[in-house]
Amino acid sequence: MADIAELTTARLILRGVTLADAPAIQRNFDDYEIIRYLAAVVPWPYPPDGAHNFLNVVLASQGDTRWVWALFLKDAPEEAAGIVDLRHGEGENRGFWLARRLWGQGLMTEACDAVTDYAFTALGFEKLTLCNAAGNTRSRRIKEKAGATFLHVEPASFVDPALTTHEVWELNRATWAARR
Ligand SMILES: CC(C)(COP(=O)(O)OP(=O)(O)OC[C@H]1O[C@@H](n2cnc3c(N)ncnc32)[C@H](O)[C@@H]1OP(=O)(O)O)[C@@H](O)C(=O)NCCC(=O)NCCS
Repeated sequence: MADIAELTTARLILRGVTLADAPAIQRNFDDYEIIRYLAAVVPWPYPPDGAHNFLNVVLASQGDTRWVWALFLKDAPEEAAGIVDLRHGEGENRGFWLARRLWGQGLMTEACDAVTDYAFTALGFEKLTLCNAAGNTRSRRIKEKAGATFLHVEPASFVDPALTTHEVWELNRATWAARR
């Protein structure tokens, strides 16, 4: 495990997750409206030690093949209110969620912009493969706003069994640089 860079945006601080974030992550993440859109490997009902277990897994590869930031509002810097999870390798390279009370203010777009910049500059990613459950319009909008290219739809399993496919997108370094 290694420390990862702290990123800042207009309204947010993104800090590498630590075990101390477990209680806030547990509180904010244990919400079916968040978890239903995530891959079926996420347990539901969410167990009381879910955040702690997630953090233990993540911290084993933090700064190596995985970069997981907790999101803090500059106005409330003690409460981890969401996550952006960036991963090297084939398949999906990024996941994210935000506490429901904060949706619809452009905060995740802001966080993803900072992480995308960091992935293409400091970390040397050439492209990001991005996915969202078909029907997850908020997540889809974040890809559209970033200028990602829609590739195709594939079968996929989510916590919500009514979601059976995901949309696959690609964002490459040149497209991102041109946009920025
Ligand atoms: C997806 C999520 C992180 C979005 O966070 P957010 O901070 O609200 O996102 P933003 O405000 O930056 O962008 C959301 C976009 O969706 C739009 N949107 C909001 N509600 C919408 C709705 N009901 N239908 C369609 N679009 C909607 C917003 O207007 C915004 O687009 P705009 O900037 O063009 O107006 C948050 O909803 C979440 O945690 N969802 C559950 C977990 C999840 O889906 N994770 C992603 C898995 S791929």
